[in-house]
Amino acid sequence: MDSFWNINNENNRFASLDGDIQADVCVIGGGLTGLTTAYYLSKEGKKVVVLEKDVICSGTSGGTTGKVTSQHGLIYKYLKDSNGKEFARKYYEANEKAIKDIEKIINEEKIECDFEKKKAYVYTESKNEIQNIKNEVEVTNKLDIDSKFVDKIDLPLEIFGAIQFQNQAQFNPVKYANGLVKSLLKNGVAIYEKSKAMDVLEDDEEYTVTTINGSVNAKYVVIATRYPIITFPGYYFLKMYQSTSYALIVDTNTDLQTDGYYINSETPQISLRTVKDGDKNLLLIVGYDYKTGSEIIGNPFDYLFARVKRMFPKAEIVKYWTAEDCISLDKIPYIGDFSNVLDNVYVATGFNKWGMTSSNISANIITDKIMGRENEYEEIFRSSRLEIIKNKDEAINMLKESVDGIVVKRIKGKPTPTCTHLGCKLSWNQLEETWDCPCHGSRYTKRGFVIESPAVSNLEID
Ligand code: FES
Repeated sequence: MDSFWNINNENNRFASLDGDIQADVCVIGGGLTGLTTAYYLSKEGKKVVVLEKDVICSGTSGGTTGKVTSQHGLIYKYLKDSNGKEFARKYYEANEKAIKDIEKIINEEKIECDFEKKKAYVYTESKNEIQNIKNEVEVTNKLDIDSKFVDKIDLPLEIFGAIQFQNQAQFNPVKYANGLVKSLLKNGVAIYEKSKAMDVLEDDEEYTVTTINGSVNAKYVVIATRYPIITFPGYYFLKMYQSTSYALIVDTNTDLQTDGYYINSETPQISLRTVKDGDKNLLLIVGYDYKTGSEIIGNPFDYLFARVKRMFPKAEIVKYWTAEDCISLDKIPYIGDFSNVLDNVYVATGFNKWGMTSSNISANIITDKIMGRENEYEEIFRSSRLEIIKNKDEAINMLKESVDGIVVKRIKGKPTPTCTHLGCKLSWNQLEETWDCPCHGSRYTKRGFVIESPAVSNLEID
């Protein structure tokens, strides 16, 4: 399902890789992380190749809300409690810097992507949640974050309160990606679409990234797929899971004007923002998240539309789609060295649905690493950290899910289909007619073609 952003995606225009080529850096993944990393590295004079398995910005970056923000739900109290005040402040600074860096790229490269400054809100319609909002306000004030408690927002909702962040932004992510692509081509970056990276093979001095019809030899490899395509080492399948969200664009048939964008703090969570469509503001609503591969209760699109209708009775659906994201166990992205035993291979994943600023932070950290520079935020996102076990409930759930899938396979002999990643039994997604893996979130079409990693091989279905 194409997203609203992708309706006019003009980037489906690159040939697939055919033959063996050489580069300084091979970036795997043509979403915002991969493109921004290629952008910074090409400005440093590196010869960069980007491999995209489908078309540019067709994956998670093409299905996002496009919120460019340092307000990641109610995260700052959690970060302060789990990692300390200084850590929480640095996380904020890294994301604030990313907002500025994205704006700088947009200005310098003259990218028309409907970039708008907005306030960000986390609100609640539940009396039980209000204390959590107030606690977050207290913590953000102590961290010197430009934030405050408000009791009203620009949506027809009865709220108990909200936390507001100033000077955040939103844009159209695919238009931004298109602008980045134009700059990459000017800087000599080679882009290949329909070129799925199958493996990364280590040689003495460099790596060979293989695709079906060719390969890229490079000293540095950046794995900027949503989910890393290498399973061992790295072991990211033990450190995060995938979550599917549902998205609707609606015409509210009102003169929709808001000073900000919104997400609620209770479950089920919904995220809302305006979207420019010519002279009109449409409304984007995203939510009804569930762990990919688990049973979907009810119809998420119906649920979201009912939520919209409560606010805007004359609303009409314009477009709908689903989006998949990687969720890290400690709510912090993994950015930097892919593994301690694999030099010059870098990763950016586990963005927890906050991929716009995270993509820019990743690009900066990885570029600095390749250029041999220190980055002041590197330690916050260190991908080889082991402290993730702090979130014990999630760790136990994940292990249980993985083991359940493998056990089913062993008990029942050879049920089909089983996932080509690590062999878990797949579940049938009736809504989208796909096979989904409950272990680490790979997805396949009903004919068995991989549409979501970490699996790279198709199913064998008769
Ligand atoms: Fe890992 Fe399916 S995604 S076993």
